[in-house]
Amino acid sequence: MRMTRSASVTLEVRRAEAADAEAIAELLGQLGYPVGTGEIPPRLDRLRNDDRTAVLLAERDHRIVGLATVHILSVLNRPRDVAWLTALVVDESARGSGVGRRLVDAVERFAREHGCERLSVTTHESRLGARTFYLRIGFEATGRRFGKELS
Ligand SMILES: CC(C)(COP(=O)(O)OP(=O)(O)OC[C@H]1O[C@@H](n2cnc3c(N)ncnc32)[C@H](O)[C@@H]1OP(=O)(O)O)[C@@H](O)C(=O)NCCC(=O)NCCS
Repeated sequence: MRMTRSASVTLEVRRAEAADAEAIAELLGQLGYPVGTGEIPPRLDRLRNDDRTAVLLAERDHRIVGLATVHILSVLNRPRDVAWLTALVVDESARGSGVGRRLVDAVERFAREHGCERLSVTTHESRLGARTFYLRIGFEATGRRFGKELS
C-alpha cells in the first residue's frame, strides 16, 4: 500500500504495532481522546484477535502522520456486512495534504475485501472540517448520531 508523490516523499499505510504507541497516543489526543502511551498496547491487544478490525497508520518519510480504525459488523437488517470507520485523525502538521483521503481509501479497500456493502462514519456536530472532508471524498450525509454515555 505505497504511494509515491515525489522522489523524496512517500505515503504508506500499514497496520499499527505496539511500538507505535507514542504516536498513536499523540494522535488520539489530537482527536480529543487523551490517553497515556502505556494504555495503547493493551488496547491494541484487545483488537488483535479480531480479523474484522484494523488499526491503520499513515507514515510519511518514516513519520506517523495519521490513524484510522475500521470495524466490520454483521447486522440483521442487511444481506451483507457493514464497515464502520470508528476513528480518523491526521496529525495537525500534515492536514490538507491528502493523508485523510489516503487512509479512508485504505479503510474502504479493507471493507470491500471483507465483502461489506457499506462504509459508514459518524462525526460530532462540532467537527465542521470533518463534515466537509467526508462530503468531499464521496460520503453522503444520511443521518444524525445519538449517543449516551454508559457509566
Ligand atoms: C478531517 C481530517 C481527517 C481530514 O484529513 P486531511 O488529511 O486533512 O484531508 P485531505 O488532505 O485528505 O483532504 C481531502 C479533501 O477534503 C478537503 N478537506 C479536508 N479537510 C478540510 C476542511 N477542514 N475543510 C474543508 N475541506 C477539507 C481537502 O481540501 C481535500 O479536497 P480536494 O481533494 O478536493 O483538494 C483531518 O483534518 C483531521 O484529522 N481533523 C481532526 C480530527 C477529525 O475531525 N477527525 C474526523 C473525526 S470523524
